[in-house]
Amino acid sequence: MLVKNPQPGELEAIETASRDEISALQLQRLQWSLRHTYDNVEPYRKRCQEKGIHPDDLKTLSDLSKFPFMTKADLRDHYPFGLFAVPQSKIARLHASSGTTGKSVVVGYTQSDLNNWANLIARSLRAAGLRAGHMVHNAYGYGMFTGGLGAHYGIERLGCTVVPMSGGQTEKQVQQIVDFRPDGMMVTPSYSLVIAEEFERRGIDPKDISLKVGIFGAEPWGEGMRAEIERKLGIDAVDIYGLTEVMGPGVASECIETKDGPVVWEDHFYPEIIDPETGEVLPDGEMGELVFTSLTKEGFPVIRYRTRDLTRLLKPTARSFRRLGKITGRSDDMLIVRGVNVFPTQIEEQIMRDPRLSGNYQIVLNRDGHMDNVEVRCELQREASSLGADDRAQLAKTLQHHIKTIIGISTKITVLDFNGIPRTEVGKARRVIDQRPQQV
Ligand code: DLL
Repeated sequence: MLVKNPQPGELEAIETASRDEISALQLQRLQWSLRHTYDNVEPYRKRCQEKGIHPDDLKTLSDLSKFPFMTKADLRDHYPFGLFAVPQSKIARLHASSGTTGKSVVVGYTQSDLNNWANLIARSLRAAGLRAGHMVHNAYGYGMFTGGLGAHYGIERLGCTVVPMSGGQTEKQVQQIVDFRPDGMMVTPSYSLVIAEEFERRGIDPKDISLKVGIFGAEPWGEGMRAEIERKLGIDAVDIYGLTEVMGPGVASECIETKDGPVVWEDHFYPEIIDPETGEVLPDGEMGELVFTSLTKEGFPVIRYRTRDLTRLLKPTARSFRRLGKITGRSDDMLIVRGVNVFPTQIEEQIMRDPRLSGNYQIVLNRDGHMDNVEVRCELQREASSLGADDRAQLAKTLQHHIKTIIGISTKITVLDFNGIPRTEVGKARRVIDQRPQQV
């Protein structure tokens, strides 16, 4: 049985604390985190010095707005370990996520960071109604992606049985769910619908599926998709948010009793919403770019990390912490394709490896049933126009292979003649045509 109305005693004290208590803890932890970063991360210290600001200047939470931001570009510039605040020998685990180019961004965790992460996933699962003794099927990808292992240790931490399935092999996923009878599942929302279709194909009625709750994230999804998942699998579906640079899944997670947006675990992450153009801090309730400062991280602390996710901060409801509204978009050009983060520049890099191709290209995204599909249209150089059909097919196959092995997504490649891609008269070429339905 899921616990849909937790008794206060089942929660951690801070989850129901007063705003004053939360702010006091945040201030104390923020002072530590700023000092720790300033003392141990040279590039950030330099940036503070250039701005004439010092951790001692943080007297109140709002003083944070005087400190410089961190961005994905900082991780790229200091690849791989240049922003770590402890020596590599103190790092217990590495994870990685897409960068804007071939090199991924790398993050590191100390044992204490991993411990906090497991606790926060356990807290997120508790918010979803799960308790010790339940079984959770984990279909987030294992490996450098934070989803698989991040969820895994939190499932164990809550005292649940983990099924470390990872992604793919849909038929086997379904067979194991049928045989093992898990109570919960963790997977991307789009893949949950592929699993649901396999149940349908087998003629299994949703009420005969053992699953009671799913904890879905890693990509945007809306209320329409929530209703569809809940109906097709006969479960409650809740939203979990996170990003590699800040920790991974479990930065914020939704409560089953309200299903009104992920609760930010504010005792570990301090959220701000800024105007993406000016960097100015916006009041709660206003739409802007989400920024996080880690309050307890040792290995790779982040100060005012610009997530590029556009959303707003909402008032507390089921817990004392604030919630996130739906992520409505991004302030950069990152695409999320079947849960994989992709920058157009990464695809461009692979196209440019073949001298017969011009630098003109277009990425066309569609949704086929529940899964995203990607077509990469590229164009031959004028000198390569005479290339025959076989050579074009071979070229497409090689490019498709490079994109799959380096970026991790399957694509359809279309090779056009020189000038096959429309030129824009003014301004930037339109590189991405996203025809997927908008998530509301
Ligand atoms: O996607 C971590 C994660 C794994 C979250 C499993 C939830 C479940 P990244 O690969 O670094 O990390 O991608 C982070 O994915 O900035 C958002 O744009 C998007 N994203 C993550 N969760 C959600 C969500 C993981 N619940 C990027 N809703 C973030 C909308 C999400 N977008």
